[in-house]
Amino acid sequence: MSERPFVARARTRVVRAGVEADAATGAVMPPIHLSSTFAFERLGKPRAYDYTRTRNPTRDQLTSALAELEGAAGGVVTASGMAAIAVALKLGKAGGAVVAPHDGYGGTYRLLKALAARGEIRFLVVDQTDLGAVESLLEREGEVAVVWMESPSNPLLRITDLAAVIALAKRRGALAMVDNTFLSPALQNPLALGADVVVHSTTKYLNGHSDVVGGAALAASPEHAAALAWWGNCLGVTGAPFDSFLTLRGIRTLHLRMAAHEENARGLTELLASHGAVRRVYYPGLPAHPGHEIARRQQRGFGAMLSFELEAADEAGVAAFLEGLRCFSLAESLGGVESLICHPATMTHAAMDAEARSAAGITGNLLRISAGIEDLADLRADLLAALDRSAARGHWIAFPAAEHDNGSVKGSKRQGGTR
Ligand SMILES: Cc1ncc(COP(=O)(O)O)c(C=O)c1O
Repeated sequence: MSERPFVARARTRVVRAGVEADAATGAVMPPIHLSSTFAFERLGKPRAYDYTRTRNPTRDQLTSALAELEGAAGGVVTASGMAAIAVALKLGKAGGAVVAPHDGYGGTYRLLKALAARGEIRFLVVDQTDLGAVESLLEREGEVAVVWMESPSNPLLRITDLAAVIALAKRRGALAMVDNTFLSPALQNPLALGADVVVHSTTKYLNGHSDVVGGAALAASPEHAAALAWWGNCLGVTGAPFDSFLTLRGIRTLHLRMAAHEENARGLTELLASHGAVRRVYYPGLPAHPGHEIARRQQRGFGAMLSFELEAADEAGVAAFLEGLRCFSLAESLGGVESLICHPATMTHAAMDAEARSAAGITGNLLRISAGIEDLADLRADLLAALDRSAARGHWIAFPAAEHDNGSVKGSKRQGGTR
C-alpha cells in the first residue's frame, strides 16, 4: 500500500513552527534572537541576517507560521495591529480612494480620516452588509485603490459577505484587504475568499494572553508580500524579537483557545438573550442574526466576541452594571484568556465622532464582551448577578432605540435588520 505524503494541518503546523530549528544546540523550542545586528562573514558578504529591523530569525519564524495559517505567500510582522494596517495601506495607489465599512475598528477609522485630511487618500464609508450600496459606490467612484473590510465588525458583529465584496472590489481593480482580528485564522481565511491582503492585530487572539501588542500584514501574492516586508522595514515598524517569540508561543494553542472562547461566548449569549434587562444581543451565532447564514458559510465558527444593549439603561445604570462584575475586567482589547467587557462609545470607539458612532449604531447602552476561557458557570453567575443588581437598583429608564439595528434580539422583540 502506498503511503500518502504527510500534509500537516494548520493546528499541527503551528505546534511544529520553529521546533528543532536550532541545529547548533538541538533546542526543541526556538531560541529568541534579541541581537539587533549580525556580523558579516567578511566585507561584502553578509550572512542570512544583517539587521533586526529588516529581518530577524525569531520574527521570521512567526511570519512564516502566520503566513501558513492564512495561506499567504508572506508578509510582515509589525509592532502593533495599527502598524500592520498602515503598512498594508501603502500598497494602495497614492491619493486613491479607500472604501471602508461604516462600523469598523475606531483606530482604523481615525487613521483613514487623518490620511484623508492630509490628502494622502480619499476616505469613503459604506455599509458593507448592503452589497447594492457597495456596488453603486464603487461604480460612482470609478477608480478605487483599496476596499477595506472587517468581518465580523467591531463592536456590532455585523457580517460582510467577504467573497461578494472582494469580487466587487476586484472588478474595479481595487485591492481587497481584510482585518481578520476578530476571528483569527483558526476560524476564517480571507485570502481563500479572494482577498489580496489580510491584516491582524496579533495583540488579540493570535497571541492570546494580553501581554504583547503586535500585528501582521500578509499577502496572497509574492509581490505584495515583498512590498509589505519592504514597507515594514522602510517605516521601521517591524515587531520586536521578544514579542515575536511570545506570539509564536501563543499561536501554538490558538485552536484550543478559540474552541474554549467560543463555547463560553455561546453560553453567555444564551443568558443575555433570555434576561429581561437586556434589549438586544449581537452575536453571529444566533440564528436570528442577519449575518448568521453568511457567517456559517464563510467562517469555521462564530467566534467569541459579542455585544449587547442594556434595556433602557442611563449612564448610572451602565456604571452600576459594570461595577458589579467580578469575572470581567473593564478594559479595551480582546482575545486574551481572560474575559473583558468594554463600553465602546467611551472606550474603543471614542476616536469616532458622535455622528459616525450614531451612524454605525453604537449607542450609550451598548457593551462589548470578549469571552475568555474561564469556567462558564462562573462567568454566567457573575453576569446574571450584575444584571439583577442593576435592574433592582431601578436605573432602567426610557432610552431611545438604536438608530441602526443590525443585531439579534430575543423573544417578542424586534428582529435586527440593516436599515
Ligand atoms: C479589529 C481590530 N483591528 C486592529 C486593531 C489595532 O490593533 P493594535 O491595538 O494591536 O494596534 C484593533 C485593536 O483593538 C482591532 O480591534
